[in-house]
Amino acid sequence: MVTTPLATQKRLSTQTEAIAKNITAIRSLDWDRDRFDIEFGLQNGTTYNSYLIQADRVALVDSSHEKFRRLYLDLLQGLIDPKEIDYLIVSHTEPDHSGLVKDILQLNPQITVVATKVALQFLDNFVHQPFERIQVKSGDRLDLGQGHNLEFVSAPNLHWPDTMLTYDPATEILFTCDVFGMHYCSDAVFDTDLDKIAPDYQFYYDCLMGPNARSVLAAMKRMDNLGTISTVANGHGPLLRYNVAELLHRYRHWSESQSKAEKTVVVFYVADYGYGDRLSQAIAKGITKTGVGVDMVDLSTADPQEIQELVGHASGVVLGMPPLQASGDLSTNFGAVLAAMQPKQVFGLYESYGGDDEPIDPLRTKFLDLGLREAFTVIKVKDTPRESTYQLCDESGTDLGQNLIQAAKIKQLKSLDSDLEKAIGRISGGLYIITAQKGEVKGAMLASWVSQASFSPPGFTVAVAKDRAIESLMQVGDRFVLNILEEGNYQSLMKHFLKRFPPGADRFAGVKTQTAANGSPILTDALAYLECEVASRMECSDHWIVYSQVTNGRVAKAEGLTAVHHRKVGNYY
Ligand code: FEO
Repeated sequence: MVTTPLATQKRLSTQTEAIAKNITAIRSLDWDRDRFDIEFGLQNGTTYNSYLIQADRVALVDSSHEKFRRLYLDLLQGLIDPKEIDYLIVSHTEPDHSGLVKDILQLNPQITVVATKVALQFLDNFVHQPFERIQVKSGDRLDLGQGHNLEFVSAPNLHWPDTMLTYDPATEILFTCDVFGMHYCSDAVFDTDLDKIAPDYQFYYDCLMGPNARSVLAAMKRMDNLGTISTVANGHGPLLRYNVAELLHRYRHWSESQSKAEKTVVVFYVADYGYGDRLSQAIAKGITKTGVGVDMVDLSTADPQEIQELVGHASGVVLGMPPLQASGDLSTNFGAVLAAMQPKQVFGLYESYGGDDEPIDPLRTKFLDLGLREAFTVIKVKDTPRESTYQLCDESGTDLGQNLIQAAKIKQLKSLDSDLEKAIGRISGGLYIITAQKGEVKGAMLASWVSQASFSPPGFTVAVAKDRAIESLMQVGDRFVLNILEEGNYQSLMKHFLKRFPPGADRFAGVKTQTAANGSPILTDALAYLECEVASRMECSDHWIVYSQVTNGRVAKAEGLTAVHHRKVGNYY
């Protein structure tokens, strides 16, 4: 293994490793990648993985982010003369994998690009020069010799419409790009430490793949027809080799759970226009937190018939504004969405910030006139999206999901008033407010299910419902404050934080706070506070149990007692 660091403001390095006969992994290690995309919540950096297959013919699978231009191209040219590369296999055209396609074609204009129809369309818009191409679909093959008879598997919507997987029967390697990836940067080439990578693997799934659960299952069904998969050569993070069966099983399990949702919402976006894909992902993530299913559909490539069916069966629609001058398939599909909407469905609109968005207000009026209910205030994006924009999208999606399941929840609450529920209601808890700040995003939540869990280091657990906005700020490694409320002096804080806040609202307006050493707000009127860091999480049906270790704490009044929360039934807080 060779690792080459480059001293820059941000730490970038590259690494090569022979992962099988004739196959070399070329990994671009981005140690400090900023958290500007929703799936980077865990802040462990990322990697962009590319692969060189050198058999009788030579293929390069994906490239790297343009920030690695010099490092990656130098490294590649050290491994092979680019003139000897016959094929460039493009699994997915987002710039973190295809940012150097143009450069590689400049080094060797004779390279044949191998990709899906949609990927080739996107590349045409991006490369702006003619290039040799082979358009492939599921079942197509490309023989590189020496047994490397590559087979392609179409995996649309994971997470873009262009995605495909490539299987090499000679080495039993499946090249998957974003699929089965994670944003986790380390020198470890493979998944040797499952416990360490597991939270990032799941968080990445929840953000990028969960909203496409049905497409995940469809792609995995196609994968079942391939031979044994011994290694998953993904596009981000360590490759899967030691836990392949387990980690593939997790995708299947999560996707099966998501796809059983009783209600679904169709989220429309345009993959290569503005920030539509990122904003729609954040909204979709917020919706799936509530147990409502999502179908994400790229307006520029979907089929009008499919749109009609999906919208017809959905409880709601979220639409990102396409470009004003939409033409061809995009314009037809935009019309198909409008035609398929039905009264009583809910809707939500957001601007894609692509520079030429269809005006949002006239469309909103049209939906309201059709008798549709607006599930969240239109999301207007007037600048490059920031963390707070994505948070607003996430919370808007959650509002929409909660709106759809509200009636079912109320019914469930009424139906469970049995002896059992009364008995569970005798489990008591204290009264606490969790406060957190991550980057520019702040959150707060009234909590009662809190319990000390360890002495050394001091730690406790707290149960957080999956659809709570603050859940995004309580991932492994995140820091927050547990404010402990005082008996006889908690009513005003409790009343304030019990309020239903609209998406993006400042939870701390009018509340006295100080800033903790870990950056989160401390409520000045609390009896005591603990500064903590999330160490691990356990999924428990509709809640996450978050185990956190305490790093600092203080009591304001030595003689004060913790407020206690008594309930009558156990099916409500
Ligand atoms: Fe890693 Fe969707 O690009």
